[in-house]
Amino acid sequence: MLSVDSIDVFIKSSRILRNVSLKAGKGEVVCLIGRNGAGKTTTLRTIMGYLRPEKGSVSFQGEDITRKSTHEISRLGIGYAPEDSGIFPDLTTHENIEISTWTKTTEKSEEERIKLAYKVFPVLEGYKKRKGTQLSGGERKMLSIARALALDPELLILDEPFEGLAPTIVTEVARSIQDIIKMGPSIIISESNIYHVPDFTDTLYVIERGEIIFSGRPEEVAQEKGILKIIAGTA
Ligand SMILES: Nc1ncnc2c1ncn2[C@@H]1O[C@H](COP(=O)(O)OP(=O)(O)O)[C@@H](O)[C@H]1O
Ligand SMILES: [Mg+2]
Repeated sequence: MLSVDSIDVFIKSSRILRNVSLKAGKGEVVCLIGRNGAGKTTTLRTIMGYLRPEKGSVSFQGEDITRKSTHEISRLGIGYAPEDSGIFPDLTTHENIEISTWTKTTEKSEEERIKLAYKVFPVLEGYKKRKGTQLSGGERKMLSIARALALDPELLILDEPFEGLAPTIVTEVARSIQDIIKMGPSIIISESNIYHVPDFTDTLYVIERGEIIFSGRPEEVAQEKGILKIIAGTA
């Protein structure tokens, strides 16, 4: 489905990612975990075409997407919910979701996809006419995921979906993500807290200082005391 192969990414002449490789198979849930500043967002933004790797490549469903624009990448079926939500603040909740259905035509109608977004995030249905600026941080995070879902993606990328959320909202968003997983898209979730790694994770990648230092099943990382210390920042 998605394959990131040995990418190096520079921002303003400093190397942020070194030789990063990552794969997500069809229907697989992948969690990219690392401390703040480790390189999670940079990796995800490179997949989405906001940044270009100096070396290495990114392919999606067998197609090289390394040089494609973000818009083209979305149209191929990658839904992205950025860390800062990235919603249009002056548009309403409903308009934000609707716009996303215009990016790509799929077997599902626009109406079906909008309905599905509200089904997964029922709270948003009550705020249909509210502008982005009038939503709380948690609601913006939900809207951001709802929009990515309304694309009807084959791959969904969620950058720290639980960051900054109150514990009750974390539970709510986790439940929504579980509903999405049942629908079957591949999912990549980034996370800085090992305790937030969803139970349904198939493969976990640990990133530290721009390098992947571990990959495997979640229960395998649980055995790696050194890796756990690095994630917790106590190494
Ligand atoms: N626009 C930027 N300019 C300079 N440095 C940046 C920029 N964006 C990210 N970085 C640096 O790249 C590193 C990785 O950042 P990021 O990918 O955002 O980490 P994470 O998402 O894991 O917290 C950090 O050291 C950060 O300071
Ligand atoms: Mg980040």
